[in-house]
Amino acid sequence: MTGNCPYARQQTPGRRFPVKANPGARCRTPALVSSPVTDHLRATADAYDAVASLYTEMARNELDDLPLDRAVLAAFAELARGAGPVAELGCGSGRVAAHLRDLGLDMSGVDLSPALIELARQEYPDLRFEIGSMDALDLADGALGGIVAWYSVIHAPPQEIPSYFAEFARVLAPGGHLLLGFFEGEPLTAFDHKVVTAYRWPIDELAKLAGEAGFAEVGRMLREAREGERPFRRGHLLMTRG
Ligand SMILES: C[S@@+](CC[C@H](N)C(=O)[O-])C[C@H]1O[C@@H](n2cnc3c(N)ncnc32)[C@H](O)[C@@H]1O
Repeated sequence: MTGNCPYARQQTPGRRFPVKANPGARCRTPALVSSPVTDHLRATADAYDAVASLYTEMARNELDDLPLDRAVLAAFAELARGAGPVAELGCGSGRVAAHLRDLGLDMSGVDLSPALIELARQEYPDLRFEIGSMDALDLADGALGGIVAWYSVIHAPPQEIPSYFAEFARVLAPGGHLLLGFFEGEPLTAFDHKVVTAYRWPIDELAKLAGEAGFAEVGRMLREAREGERPFRRGHLLMTRG
């Protein structure tokens, strides 16, 4: 049952979010965990649960019209291919994980929202999706060859970002790649995201915090908002773990 399963590992005593077994997936995460969940994580999960179907429909084909986003995902895929399992952290209903699967990566996904994870499992039954928080992953040290956090660290309170990046560094093998997508903004500002509070990050600031967690920058891509998008520049950082 375990094979190459990146979730084949113990429950971490200090983790903060419940994880449920996914009987249909190629591997299983043990059900349980009853430690306290932070209000912020609960609020984020509840907010995405409430709009799960709508969000999934709106996001489904978004990448089709975003050639620069596809380009950065393709660069990540080329660098991460063959390096081991790759996780999308904050995967929503799995469209980015599926896109990367199509580019040859061995993908799994983790998200706070049970409703989004349920939809991801229905849409992409060949991939592994688990409920969890990206700052307390149920993964062994160095278990992953790549991590994508595509517009998901945007909901983390800024003071918690260093602990998120420390967790990414723990589970990513040396030489593995990390791709971050986010709303860029100078200075760091909260904004009224349609689902739940989110933060814009100055790209240099986010790169600096990732650097302090042990990541070296490979490259970055900034693009302007397209018509119909929220009018913020988009930031993308491609990093490698030293
Ligand atoms: C803007 S959506 C992006 C979803 C997906 N990456 C996509 O592009 O379709 C942000 C996602 O991050 C998830 N999220 C936010 N904080 C999280 C955390 N601490 N751990 C896991 N998922 C989280 C939310 O539940 C939500 O599904």
